[in-house]
Amino acid sequence: MSTPATHDAWAVAEMSAAETRSANRLTILWVVVMLALAPILVLLGMTMRGAQANLLPMLAAERFYSILTLHGLGMVGVWFVAAMAGTCAVLRKYVRLHLWANWTAFLGTLVGVVLLIVATLIGKYGAGWYFLYPLAITPKGVWQAWTTYTFLSAITVLGVAWTVWSIDALWGIARRYSLPAALSWHYITGKKGPEVPPFILIVTVSLIANLTGLISAVVMLALYALELAGITDVSDALVMKNLVFLFGHIVVNVTLYLGVGLLYELLPEYADRPWKNNRWVAIAWNIVLVLIFTAYFHHLYMDFVQIRVLHLIGQVSSYGLALPSAVVSIYGTLALVWRARMRWSMASLLMYCGVVGWCVGGIGALIDSTIAVNVKFHNTLWVPAHFHTYFLVGVVLMILGGVFHLSDKLSGLPENLRRSRWCTAMIVVGGYGFVLMFYLGGAMSIPRRYAQYHELISTGTLLAGTALVFITVLLIGLLMYIWETGLRCAVALKKV
Ligand code: HEM
Repeated sequence: MSTPATHDAWAVAEMSAAETRSANRLTILWVVVMLALAPILVLLGMTMRGAQANLLPMLAAERFYSILTLHGLGMVGVWFVAAMAGTCAVLRKYVRLHLWANWTAFLGTLVGVVLLIVATLIGKYGAGWYFLYPLAITPKGVWQAWTTYTFLSAITVLGVAWTVWSIDALWGIARRYSLPAALSWHYITGKKGPEVPPFILIVTVSLIANLTGLISAVVMLALYALELAGITDVSDALVMKNLVFLFGHIVVNVTLYLGVGLLYELLPEYADRPWKNNRWVAIAWNIVLVLIFTAYFHHLYMDFVQIRVLHLIGQVSSYGLALPSAVVSIYGTLALVWRARMRWSMASLLMYCGVVGWCVGGIGALIDSTIAVNVKFHNTLWVPAHFHTYFLVGVVLMILGGVFHLSDKLSGLPENLRRSRWCTAMIVVGGYGFVLMFYLGGAMSIPRRYAQYHELISTGTLLAGTALVFITVLLIGLLMYIWETGLRCAVALKKV
């Protein structure tokens, strides 16, 4: 059982030429949204670091927290949809997807983003992505009622749109392969079965997990609705917290796995070697599918009312979740690249660097998921340090690589390799410098989510100021990337 190394680029399975054109156009639209929103969200992050560096004394704490909410949710959302859009573009080579589902997700995302902007920038909603139940719906209310309603509506619209998208993709996979085959169980048992590319395996695992996460969000939103409608009095705050972290943890991990799926599929083209599915790859990703549901308990270590054994399950699952997927994928990447005649273009460089960032951030995450360490690191800057590493210099790089590959193929424009290397170097150097300041802050017990640092933690101010220099380098690199990719999208739009 083996998978072919490469496939005809973007040859859509069972689709007419007109449908293919529409699908490609929609993919480009997704890319345009990603390219437009990413730098704005970076600027919001920069604003927060600027406030923490005492450079923006006029920025009120209330405004800081609304920016934090928009930045956090916006970033998670943008990279999730970018990963899903890239995944669907590749998935169409193997399975039949419905364009209307993709359009539902696109329009739903636009509506959700507008509602989110209104709730945060106009209504100054600042509870973060974790909702802070019951703060937003206490009788006196921290925020005006319309703000809370707008925020909850934004999450509902996004949730519904992404559920439709995920169901359609999973349905397409199940029709072509059957779910047990897509999960590569026959690779584990040694029975006969169809050839399943590792990309399909990872996407199937991700989509099943994603739907479960979205269901937990639906349950949580329903509990909010019942309470707001006066049907129930109050919900259990611990249950609400478990639901929100189950949802948040899964969405973030799924984004990561979708990025890794793109890597398994696209990097072989640059190494000119296949990346095959096998028993170990299948076992690793099936373990991920089990443990992804219990690892989130590590977010609740400090909740003393949570049943104790769940903390232990959280620690064991966190280790168990990280090791198989990371070890198999890192080993696979190294084996793929080792002594291969690699074509180091913008796409392959970004994807390769993304694996490194995933590995570094993963180690930071494992450290923090160890209960004995978490007692010290909880709510310090170590937390944004590790997740910005595996996100910003991890999966974001993989997605940027995948998106560049896609726009490059569709446009056929020649690549200036020197410029590509400069661009990648600036993103990577800026990114690592930025997260290093978070790590140093975490190691010094500087708390996270402070709008401004007290003079007693003046090191925090200094680290935030230094971070700004690196963020500027990163932003320049990102703008170069946007220029290169945007140009390709413009040419591709005329062609398709
Ligand atoms: C250069 C790019 C970025 C900058 C400058 C930046 C900056 C920041 C800052 C200053 C914070 C607040 C840290 C604190 O004091 O707790 C933060 C939080 C956060 N960032 Fe970023 N960030 C960037 C990229 C990203 C990316 C790519 C993601 C992707 C998911 C992301 C997701 C988040 C999340 C989820 C939070 C937590 C929000 C919260 O605690 O409520 N950021 N970011």
